[in-house]
Amino acid sequence: MSITEKKLVALLSCADLAPGSVQRVDVAGFPPLAVYNVDGSYFVSDDTCSHGNASLAEGFLEGDEIECPWHNGKFCVRTGAATAYPAMVAVCTYSVEIADGQVCIAAPSEEAIAKPD
Ligand code: FES
Repeated sequence: MSITEKKLVALLSCADLAPGSVQRVDVAGFPPLAVYNVDGSYFVSDDTCSHGNASLAEGFLEGDEIECPWHNGKFCVRTGAATAYPAMVAVCTYSVEIADGQVCIAAPSEEAIAKPD
């Protein structure tokens, strides 16, 4: 199924993210996102660490855990759960679909997009 048929937002090409790597992506309608390739499976979470303002994409991906570059808190990239102190609050994760060779997440609903008054 194509990206437009399913109302998906393409974040990046699968071919541009090697296994074991993570990349920050900025797209309209979402906070900064981190896209992970764990042995050929793709995951997406918010990029900003829940403990501070660090970019998780600048951290260290080991298996399915991302280690924050600032204070070494860790998160499971599959669930967003905090797995190592001082990170204690989960980061938001997004359901991923692969379409047309792109890592995609669902487009924000019309209600979720803030409209100016
Ligand atoms: Fe990420 Fe502190 S900012 S663990």
